[in-house]
Order: sequence, then structure tokens, then C-alpha cells
Amino acid sequence: MKEETITLTVNGRDVKDRKIVGKKGQTVLEVCRDNGIYIPTLCHHPQMPPYGGCRLCIVQIDNMRGMPPACTTPAVDGMVVNTHTESVVRVRKTVLELLLAYGDHNCLLCDSNGDCELQNLVYEHQIEHIRFKTDFVPKPKDDSSPMIVRDHNKCVLCGRCVRACLNLQMNGAIDIAERGSNAYIATFNNTSLMDSVCVNCGQCVEVCPVGALTEKKAKGLGRAWEMEKVRTTCPYCGVGCQMWLHVKDGRITRISAVEEAQPNEGRLCVKGRFGYDFIYSEERLKTPLIRENGSFREASWDEALDLVAARFKEIIAKHGPDSVAGVSSSRSINEDSYQMQKLFRAGFGTNNIDNCART
Ligand code: SF4
Ligand code: SF4
Ligand code: SF4
Ligand code: FES
Repeated sequence: MKEETITLTVNGRDVKDRKIVGKKGQTVLEVCRDNGIYIPTLCHHPQMPPYGGCRLCIVQIDNMRGMPPACTTPAVDGMVVNTHTESVVRVRKTVLELLLAYGDHNCLLCDSNGDCELQNLVYEHQIEHIRFKTDFVPKPKDDSSPMIVRDHNKCVLCGRCVRACLNLQMNGAIDIAERGSNAYIATFNNTSLMDSVCVNCGQCVEVCPVGALTEKKAKGLGRAWEMEKVRTTCPYCGVGCQMWLHVKDGRITRISAVEEAQPNEGRLCVKGRFGYDFIYSEERLKTPLIRENGSFREASWDEALDLVAARFKEIIAKHGPDSVAGVSSSRSINEDSYQMQKLFRAGFGTNNIDNCART
């Protein structure tokens, strides 16, 4: 079917200058972004339905009352839009000041310092002081989850975590409770995250634009600007999710999803995101162990390999190749798993080989 296009005039740029062309069905924000026109946002996330909660993307549109949010306003052919009028910028600054006034934002102490959309917006709008005195009362952090810390005092109620949990992970563990300045993100029955139906997938942390949701294991391991991002494929199952390793001084500090890549499109499960502790575990085996009289003793590689080879030969000679089987671990690298199946198929002559990434 032929796509219907529409033409808008944004900030005076129109047919004479450069056409602002969009597709029918897009929002004003989408048309502007596709044409390289910047509009600040906070609650918007491209992977989730528009929410229209933060009011930072407000614009002025000829023949429309007030300042509609660009993220929820459908773009219409012939629309005349202004994204940065004096009044629009003034309202955005007020919104930002109110967000700061109703929270506890000490960036020096925050794990998201340098990776925070609120911090960037406050800087961009050159806010130097907060004019409002509020009745803000700090709430205790929810530190109950083994993976996630929720600091309500840094939450800007953008609802991204709620939508991610429901729309991306299909879990629906959290929602916005109460109203107005009392509103906060809560679990069903207001339990701690640990006692809720949360599965610790960390998707809410991934989409949170500020330091209200952070990863426990990454705490203190480095600031965002110190990280080298290394793209890789999750080895755990056959889906092959695309992920970023955030690496500092050769150590993985956390893992996030690659947003615009198939097959996971910015999502990860709990294993892919958090299951990497074993890499640095003190309990890792550093030398082969041979069981003797019910307990293990350390052995050299030569001794261990000779023993294993002799026992395999003995069993196969006596009972045939299908009497042995191998399971390779997804925690080892793909190349090791490949070699393991090669050993069993080509070396031993059996297809009795498995790995949880087989699907
Ligand atoms: S959430 Fe952002 S603005 Fe708030 S303290 Fe953390 S870095 Fe600063
Ligand atoms: S960790 Fe996953 S399941 Fe738990 S609240 Fe966040 S998105 Fe929902
Ligand atoms: S916790 Fe983060 S994602 Fe959730 S509403 Fe607050 S700021 Fe938004
Ligand atoms: S980004 Fe549009 S209202 Fe928040």
C-alpha cells in the first residue's frame, strides 16, 4: 500500500526552505525527530506507547489552544508548529524546576550522574536555582530486590518503568499509586519489590531516565563516561539477544540491551542482564579436581585429561558411543561449546550432546 505523506511547517521551515515531511499517523514528535528537529522529552520512549505525562515536549501549534504535547499530538498535513517559543521554553523551565523541587537530586551522590536525562535537561535549560518551596517529604529507598534499588526521591513519575513492565515484559508488577504530589511508583498491595511479582528482569531500570532505578551490582564500579561499550550476543539461550557490555578497566560493570537490534529490540531477561557474576566469582575452579574416596583433590591438567580420556575410551569400548553424553555450559564461550559438540559427534560418534542455547 502506498504511504501517504504529510507536510508540516516547523519553526518557520517549510516548502521554501526544507520540507518537513512525515507519514500519516505519526505524532508531531515523530515527524520532528525524523526531520532532525529537537524537542525535549522525558516520559517518551520510542519502544512504548505515548504517555503525555511530563509536559516537556509541549509545542505551540497554529489554531490549537494551549501547548499540546508533541508526543501525543497526531501530525496533520499543513500544521504550523513552533517548538521553542519564549513561552514554551518558560513552561519547560518551570516543569523542570518543579521536578527538582519535588525530589532529592544531589547528582554527586547519584549512580546516574552523567547518564541522566533530567540532569541533561536542567543543564540545557540553564536552571541555576529553584524558585519553589515545596512540602516534599523524602521516602525510604526500596533496597529489597537483589538486583534493583528504587529511590523514590529521584523519580520524576514519567511512567516509563510501569509501561516497560507491562508493555515490554508483560509482567505488570508496578503502577502509579496515589495522586498529585503524593503519587509514587508502587507494587500491587504496596509490598517491597522483593515480595512482589517482579521477576528482576531489570527492564524498568533500562528505561528509567534518571537515577530512581539503578542496578545494585553496578554501584561504585564506575561512572557512565568511564565505560567502554562492547556489543555482543547473549550466550544463554537460542534467541541470541543483542547486548552491550559496559566495561571499565577490562571488567564488566553492567549489561544493557541494544535498543534498535533484532531479535530483542531493547529487552533482556534476568539471566542475560544480571547473570554474569560467575566471571569474577572467587569460587571459580582454577585447577582440575579429581574425586578420590568421596572427596576432591587438585590435579594437573595432564593428569585430569588422561584420566577422563581413559575412562571415556573404556566406557565406549564396553557399551558403545551412545552410552556417553555431554552437556556444555552456556557460561562458556560459543567456541568451547562448538568444540564440545565436535568432540562428541566426530570424536566419540554420538549425538548425545546438549546445551541450553540449542533452540
Ligand atoms: S536523578 Fe539525575 S538529576 Fe537527580 S540526582 Fe541523579 S543524576 Fe542528578
Ligand atoms: S524488574 Fe522487570 S518485572 Fe520487575 S518491576 Fe522492573 S520491569 Fe517489572
Ligand atoms: S522510577 Fe524512573 S521510570 Fe519509573 S516513573 Fe520514576 S523516573 Fe520514571
Ligand atoms: S515526552 Fe511528551 S509529555 Fe513527556
